[in-house]
Amino acid sequence: MNRLQNKVAIITGGSSGIGLATAKEFLVQGATVLITGRNQDALDQLTAELGEKAFGLVWDASLPGNSSHLSDFVQANFDSIDILFVNAGVAKFAPFEKMTEAIFDESVNTNVKGAYFTIQALVPFFKNGGSIILNTSINAHVGAPSASVYAATKGALLTMAKNLSTELISRHIRVNAISPGPVDTSLHSAAKLGISDQQLSQMNQGIIQAVPLGRFGRPEEIAKVALFFASDDSSFVVGAELIVDGGMSMG
Ligand SMILES: NC(=O)c1ccc[n+]([C@@H]2O[C@H](COP(=O)([O-])OP(=O)(O)OC[C@H]3O[C@@H](n4cnc5c(N)ncnc54)[C@H](OP(=O)(O)O)[C@@H]3O)[C@@H](O)[C@H]2O)c1
Repeated sequence: MNRLQNKVAIITGGSSGIGLATAKEFLVQGATVLITGRNQDALDQLTAELGEKAFGLVWDASLPGNSSHLSDFVQANFDSIDILFVNAGVAKFAPFEKMTEAIFDESVNTNVKGAYFTIQALVPFFKNGGSIILNTSINAHVGAPSASVYAATKGALLTMAKNLSTELISRHIRVNAISPGPVDTSLHSAAKLGISDQQLSQMNQGIIQAVPLGRFGRPEEIAKVALFFASDDSSFVVGAELIVDGGMSMG
């Protein structure tokens, strides 16, 4: 408890799944937390549930030039920030032959470009000694059918974490990456992945067989790792990646 006392954390894509679980964990640890998402009603309901130290902002990471909308809100509401969890992301799967430019652009604009310019817009608000955490994916390491575009965006994000570390360490901002394996969130729905129910069922069976622990991870298990990177427990950890995949990439 209180590992993030008096800290201000921004969590992009904090309206569900891993981002929401992380917001809850950070709040329990004493932080003030801003979560973003694209649905006002959902954010209003969540912030009411999460309490007075939770803020919500409707913001779309994929829109060009939209990072200033986020930085304007930060400037208006906080003196400075300590933690940024770059988590907002989409996972759209399609076989190589059927991949469309629309999916490619949405994926890159959200997962890569949006992430990059979010960091650029928010770094000026950091005190020295802050922590930036990028949520990548095991798909940056492990090949999977229909995942080529998603995997490419997460590979880019992972490389970004390592390279930005070298530039931001002069301001004592530590940049690290979490690469989750399959986690049980709404991202794993047929609608969000852009596949049929039958394909989802086949995919889920394959995933469970490929994970030595024999199950999906829980969002709270990723949140605990985000807490490690966000807190002073990781004060000497810079440019690192922690793979949290139930052993999926072990073999
Ligand atoms: N679940 C997994 O197995 C898994 C594994 C590895 C990595 N990840 C990564 O973990 C992150 C969170 O995913 P999740 O599993 O927690 O899925 P999720 O429940 O679908 O959450 C995704 C979050 O991202 C937000 N988001 C999506 N597109 C956005 C955009 N254009 N602008 C702003 N926010 C946007 C969503 O907000 P709204 O929809 O409310 O706008 C939501 O809060 C993603 O980056 C994902 O790639 C997930």
